[in-house]
Amino acid sequence: MKLLFATPECAPLVKTGGLGDVSAALPAALAALGHDVRVLMPAYGALEQSAGRLLALHHVPADGPWPEAQLLHLKHDAGIEFLLLCCPQLYGRPGGPYGAAGGDHVDNALRFALLARVAALIGSRATPCGWQADVVHTHDWTCGLAPLYLHQARAAGDASCARSVLTLHNLAFQGVFPMELAGALGIAPQHRGVEGVEFWGQLSMLKAGLQFADAITTVSPTYAREIQGEALGFGLDGVLRSRADVLTGILNGIDTAVWNPATDALIAARYDAASLERKAHNRAALRQRCGLGAHAPGPLFGLVGRLTRQKGVDLVLAGAERLLAHGAQLVVLGSGDADLEQGLAALAARRPGRVYAALGFDEPLAHQIEAGADCFLMPSRFEPCGLNQMYSQAYGTPPIVTDTGGLADSVVDAQLQGGTGFVMPEATQAAFDDAVQRACATWRSAGRWRQLQLAGMRRDFGWAQPARTYEAVYERVLAADDGDSA
Ligand code: ADP
Ligand code: GLC
Repeated sequence: MKLLFATPECAPLVKTGGLGDVSAALPAALAALGHDVRVLMPAYGALEQSAGRLLALHHVPADGPWPEAQLLHLKHDAGIEFLLLCCPQLYGRPGGPYGAAGGDHVDNALRFALLARVAALIGSRATPCGWQADVVHTHDWTCGLAPLYLHQARAAGDASCARSVLTLHNLAFQGVFPMELAGALGIAPQHRGVEGVEFWGQLSMLKAGLQFADAITTVSPTYAREIQGEALGFGLDGVLRSRADVLTGILNGIDTAVWNPATDALIAARYDAASLERKAHNRAALRQRCGLGAHAPGPLFGLVGRLTRQKGVDLVLAGAERLLAHGAQLVVLGSGDADLEQGLAALAARRPGRVYAALGFDEPLAHQIEAGADCFLMPSRFEPCGLNQMYSQAYGTPPIVTDTGGLADSVVDAQLQGGTGFVMPEATQAAFDDAVQRACATWRSAGRWRQLQLAGMRRDFGWAQPARTYEAVYERVLAADDGDSA
């Protein structure tokens, strides 16, 4: 199959969160199954200069509000084939993919509609690169218009059009813009109503994708159920219920070439289940790097992630003194909401030697925390999948998680057979404090702790199985295609 993976971020070139990891690892796993996979992503900043070996250069003509653009077909050292979308007016600026320090980029509607439009073009007979995808696989709101554009192209007579699959990584981000833009973005009048892109009077790019994708997936089975209810449906639960027949949850994998304590070049000492005692070197190195006391009567807790309420970071802050009262230490790495950043900085300043907070993005430190911490904190209020709790288990660092989304699907509570971590029934302060207390008590019993570590390390979180499940989704949408044309 010719598969186009259209995404706003892909590690190691651009990553702000889990989508960056998935965008690198899933295409690689699909390529390993024999598919012809290309990753379409904007060339932010001057990315095109560092991305790999150039195979070809294609022209994308100007159209409507969009200036002309180039498509760079590159082969990255990591093996991924990229189609980098170069349009300096829209993507060649400082800051992150979605915004800079002052907030979102003001022309995001245009920036990401171009990404979606080019994705749809590559799936149509008008493809600008001599390669027409069979399936266009888009992610989140940023490429949400691609399924609609493909639908429109098909309706206009291009029966060869690719089928579309939309994967939802986080329903909280929806790409909502003024409806006045609909005409400029090429959304046909009949699709501007409530059966199309309309969301409370505005234009929702995510809703466009949900309405028109041939299949919808999300990143865990539990989240697939949760988003069909009001509490976690973010106003789109009705749309999702109406598409339940094409909605499936597929738990993400982890890239075991990158996240593997036996081969990880970013950590102080490599180890596996048979040499678990070597993990102590990583703890010592982490303590030293973070200025923490070399010994403590309790476990070393770690947290890496976006510092937001979604991730329950406020629960960690509010419970920090009780956590420290168990003799524990705490290392946090992340960036996000200003009040949480300030709270963590103040805590670290108040408790030197016990708490360390690194505010920013630091890939090596993220690996060192996974390897060096005893226990990982992820008390999210909701979590579509979550990757860190899987990294933690692979690194022998039992996680504390909430019973939600992908956390529920990937961690087994210590009280159960085959336990690998600590599951809070809900994201409340009492549940968090209780899980911390349980973790500290279990850690004091070296044998039980080791059992938890080994059970986590034995689990297979690789991409091979999820990639096969995606393959089945692609086959399904293509089979529906045969039915249509028959
Ligand atoms: P989300 O995508 O919701 O942010 P995930 O758990 O799926 O959460 O993925 C987060 C990814 O981003 C992980 O690979 C994690 O290690 C990484 N990450 C998040 N924050 C940071 C940070 N400050 N520094 C380094 N890596 C980070
Ligand atoms: C989103 C979700 C996270 C998920 C990631 C990759 O950012 O918040 O839970 O793991 O996407 O699918």
